[in-house]
Amino acid sequence: MRLDKFLSDMKCATRSQLKKDIRAGLVTVNGEMVRQSDFAVDENKDKVGYKGTIYEYEKFVYYMLNKPAGVVSATEDKKDKTVVDLLKDIGRDDLFPMGRLDKDTEGLLILTNDGALTHELLSPTKHVEKVYECTLAEPFDVTQKEKLEQGVDIGEKKLTMPAKVAILEEKKIALTILEGKFHQVKRMLQAVGNEVIYLKRVRMGGLVLDERLQPGEYRKLTSEEVKLLQEKK
Ligand code: URA
Repeated sequence: MRLDKFLSDMKCATRSQLKKDIRAGLVTVNGEMVRQSDFAVDENKDKVGYKGTIYEYEKFVYYMLNKPAGVVSATEDKKDKTVVDLLKDIGRDDLFPMGRLDKDTEGLLILTNDGALTHELLSPTKHVEKVYECTLAEPFDVTQKEKLEQGVDIGEKKLTMPAKVAILEEKKIALTILEGKFHQVKRMLQAVGNEVIYLKRVRMGGLVLDERLQPGEYRKLTSEEVKLLQEKK
């Protein structure tokens, strides 16, 4: 890969600025000054220095966001703020959310530029566990639990797949589902005669929401966390 492309993919500066800076001797490859923009770097192992920072090439990036309520899971929206708007400061413009949470839902949402992994994990045949904490309008009881565990009619062709339910409080449960239909959790609770008044996703596959992240905050996934996602492929 060309040296100027490497740095421009890392969003260091514009390509024309980078060309000037490379010519001016501001760039190193593995510690050696290089003045040719078309110098061939090996993005799998070379380290490029620019203005005091050493860059390793990252083709794909993965962020964990604690999605706040009031923000839509999209890359752009005419009316509402999007989850991508929340990550403006990272200097990349190629991220998209891995799936959707409703506007009023909070919690774990991955933002990435890895389209292939996103496609795989969201495929309806790929039954990745999603865990939601649900605060309910009415007390939750064993009959509702049994129904959810068996599968309920939410107006689709088939019943929902059996869910797992942990009762946390009188009006609070953790629901684990394997599908991701539109408003699925809300519709499931409605189907058993209850109502979700607050919803938060806390886990997706092996990836758990970092509870230190306040709503609206985000951080990069660690390499172990990326592996957890990739294992679900
Ligand atoms: N189920 C819902 O009803 N809403 C969400 O945001 C996610 C799952």
